[in-house]
Amino acid sequence: MKGIILAGGLGTRLHPLTKSVSKQLLPLFDKPMIYYPLSTLIELGIRDILLICKRNDKNLFQNLLKDGSQWGLRIEYAIQDKPSGIAESFIIGEKFIKDDNVALILGDNIFYGVKYNIKNFKNGALIFSYQVQDPKRYGVIEIKNNLPKKITEKPKNPKSNLAVTGLYIYDKEVVKIAKTIKPSKRGELEITDINNNYLKRKKLKVCNLEQGSMWLDAGTFTTLLQAAHFIQTLQERQNIQIGSPESSALYQKFISRSQLKKIIKNSPKNEYFKNLNSLI
Ligand code: G1P
Repeated sequence: MKGIILAGGLGTRLHPLTKSVSKQLLPLFDKPMIYYPLSTLIELGIRDILLICKRNDKNLFQNLLKDGSQWGLRIEYAIQDKPSGIAESFIIGEKFIKDDNVALILGDNIFYGVKYNIKNFKNGALIFSYQVQDPKRYGVIEIKNNLPKKITEKPKNPKSNLAVTGLYIYDKEVVKIAKTIKPSKRGELEITDINNNYLKRKKLKVCNLEQGSMWLDAGTFTTLLQAAHFIQTLQERQNIQIGSPESSALYQKFISRSQLKKIIKNSPKNEYFKNLNSLI
């Protein structure tokens, strides 16, 4: 399975914070935001990752993440020139995806405790839902007889509280489907249209994130701060690392303990690397 992180977008909801810095490079407690979705992909067992970002941000992301080999990954980069929608990721990433299944994660989506074994994914599409208080901001799933009936993007009158989170898994058909959909009223190729395409063909599964897992979208001032507090509290209380590529890569055995020791040895002796030391 391949993995794509979409870190494009103008981040206007966070201006002036994001006027000169990409949203996904903003700090989220002790790490850049992009570390969190990257770690989620690693925790799913994915090593081949394409990061899609704006042209001006490519060097910044590359300086931070390199080619991923330090964490046992292969990271490639691609450009999304205009914010033409999440579904465009599959058109941009066509060559990278080739004939594989692909997981897409949005660069501002923070997950904690997602337990899914990608070996169980065979075909179709799998999306992850989460109960929220303010569904109007998201794609919302209407359920009938325990089955998904329709997904509506940012509905004025949501039919449920079940939001579609920014983590999606598809079979290789997704590239063809992405090429057939038309831009929405806001001028974007909507991921919701892709999901409804799978849904109509009865190929869409919805996995509700259980209690004990957490989904945060750090795309507004309030949710950015809430996410940072959540991460700080949980890390300190449970002595764990959330969204740390080093920690996730060690857990997945993408890197060995001695490789992690080397990373720590060559890094500043600050809190982040001290905490990693406790993993060895
Ligand atoms: C996007 C999707 C939406 C999804 C949300 C999750 O919204 O279009 O369906 O629920 O991500 O973060 P956007 O970030 O474009 O507002």
